[in-house]
Amino acid sequence: MDESSNFKIEPYLNRIGLSTMPRVSEAGVQRLHHAQFYTIPFENLDIQLGRGIDLSPDALFTKLVLRHRGGYCFELNGLMLMALRAFGFNARPLLARVHLINPPGGHTHQISCVEIGGRRWIVDVGFGASGPRVPMPLEAGSIETGQDWAFRLERREPWGWMMQSKENGDWLDSYSFDMGHVTPADIEIGNYFTSTSPGSVFARTTVASLPHPNGRVSLSDYTLTEIENGHKATREAAPGQAYLDVLADYFGIKLDVPFSAFRNLGYIKEKIMGFLWAYDQKNVDWNELSELYRIAPLGEKPPDTLESVFSNSKYKCFVYSNHSLVGAGRALADGLDCSYICDVAVHPEHQRLGIGRQIVQKLVAFSQEHKKIILYANPGKEGFYGKLGFCKMNTAMAIFSNQAHALESGLISSA
Ligand SMILES: CC(C)(COP(=O)(O)OP(=O)(O)OC[C@H]1O[C@@H](n2cnc3c(N)ncnc32)[C@H](O)[C@@H]1OP(=O)(O)O)[C@@H](O)C(=O)NCCC(=O)NCCS
Repeated sequence: MDESSNFKIEPYLNRIGLSTMPRVSEAGVQRLHHAQFYTIPFENLDIQLGRGIDLSPDALFTKLVLRHRGGYCFELNGLMLMALRAFGFNARPLLARVHLINPPGGHTHQISCVEIGGRRWIVDVGFGASGPRVPMPLEAGSIETGQDWAFRLERREPWGWMMQSKENGDWLDSYSFDMGHVTPADIEIGNYFTSTSPGSVFARTTVASLPHPNGRVSLSDYTLTEIENGHKATREAAPGQAYLDVLADYFGIKLDVPFSAFRNLGYIKEKIMGFLWAYDQKNVDWNELSELYRIAPLGEKPPDTLESVFSNSKYKCFVYSNHSLVGAGRALADGLDCSYICDVAVHPEHQRLGIGRQIVQKLVAFSQEHKKIILYANPGKEGFYGKLGFCKMNTAMAIFSNQAHALESGLISSA
């Protein structure tokens, strides 16, 4: 990888708030680490936007430095490696195995090894919340503590070196690595898996995280957590522009696309009115959903048909009471122009409690970037949607597969 022509020293120093170049020294690597670590957020938004992660030096520099975006480990530590080399450090990449999961994964984390005056250091600005906050000398048992933070490296067979962090008094394994030679192709393979495999946490969750000396702020899907001097405060961000505002206000990330461009931000859960609300179909029992529609009543909808139509719908909403499904709805949306809300139903025992209104309002909020949000009501339900701001469409027309039945039930009249 020839990165030298892509790395421009001045814009990089401006981005991380340094006025002078770090020297090739232990103090210099600490200063560089501190500056990038506390400035450029960890985030995987491009994966959730379906753009993928481009690790070419030009793309990395443009995104993280010129566009003021963050990145995940391959990007943050890829940029750090370019910077280290540009400032004259003897640095090379290493690949690490994450141990936060059991059994540990493959080589899905990139770090850097820097040699200064015969002493080797591990530099990592891309592990997110539990990553080391300072460069770590590559020495067994070394511990670096800041306010509430402690990290150590130890030899551990068969892994090589193990990076640990201290949480509530216990040492937890973060990741392991050995000193094997790493090529750009090795990094590309790790990046490809981590950014595209359905099993990868970064393909499933939308995250942003920015440390500050006394704590950190993190966004995991819609949950915003602020930790300050050991005090933790959590709140739910709302979908839509409010979510984009959180990205800008807390992480300095200004996206060039609307909220509706996110693919997976349905993966949230929250409690409203004492019920559990879910916006993904991970735990849906399609037989139970079919039964809900039968008794609501909203007709006979076979489980496999429901699985198919919900899978094809951009937004979905499921409401649970004591693990039983009591409400549902979905919106088929193209992301920009039109969102069609349908299959809204509430269990008869829970109707008239405001759940139906909340379902529709959620689907409307999810669809807010669209030019139009349309639906058609079952005869007799027009008043329900009317109260939620829907107006009758003068020119709405439809072809039903069973046109005669649609005529008979009053859904359409002859043209
Ligand atoms: C239609 C349905 C989804 C409404 O859900 P719900 O949880 O009972 O409704 P809510 O309690 O949220 O009611 C919201 C408001 O709409 C009103 N409303 C509810 N059903 C209504 C109806 N059929 N006609 C007029 N207003 C209605 C409520 O009185 C309430 O008004 P308020 O804000 O002034 O108090 C639910 O009754 C249902 O599942 N019905 C069977 C399936 C169905 O027909 N789905 C709609 C397909 S178009």
